[in-house]
Amino acid sequence: ADLILGEEVFNNNCAACHMGGNNSVQNEKTLRKSALEQYLAGGFNQDAIVYQVENGKNAMPAWADRLDEDEIQAVAAFVFSQASGDLW
Ligand code: HEM
Repeated sequence: ADLILGEEVFNNNCAACHMGGNNSVQNEKTLRKSALEQYLAGGFNQDAIVYQVENGKNAMPAWADRLDEDEIQAVAAFVFSQASGDLW
C-alpha cells in the first residue's frame, strides 16, 4: 500500500485523536508497537489495524463508510510502518 497516501489519510482523519502516534482520548492506547501489542484486538499486525479502522472500537469511530478500501489499506500500512520502525 501507498505510504504517502496513508500519511495523508492519517493527517486528515486520525491525527485529531492520534497526533504523533498518541491517543488524546485514552492516553495509554497509543499507536506505538508496545501499545498495539498490548491493546489491539488481534495483536500487532496490519490486518488487525485494518479491522479496527473499519469497525472502530469503544470511543473510536468506524471508518468503513467514510474511507474507501485503498485509503483504509494505506492508512493501516502507514500506522504499521510508523510503529514497526519506532518512527512516531
Ligand atoms: C485506538 C487507529 C481515528 C480514537 C486506535 C488503535 C489504532 C487506531 C490502530 C489501537 C491502539 C491501541 O490499542 O493501542 C486509528 C486510525 C484512525 C483513527 C488509523 C483514522 C482512520 C481515531 C479518531 C479517534 C480515535 C478520529 C477519536 C475520535 C481512538 C480511541 C482508541 C483508538 C479512543 C482506543 C480504543 C479502545 O481500545 O478502547 N486507533 N484511529 N481514533 N482510537 Fe483510533
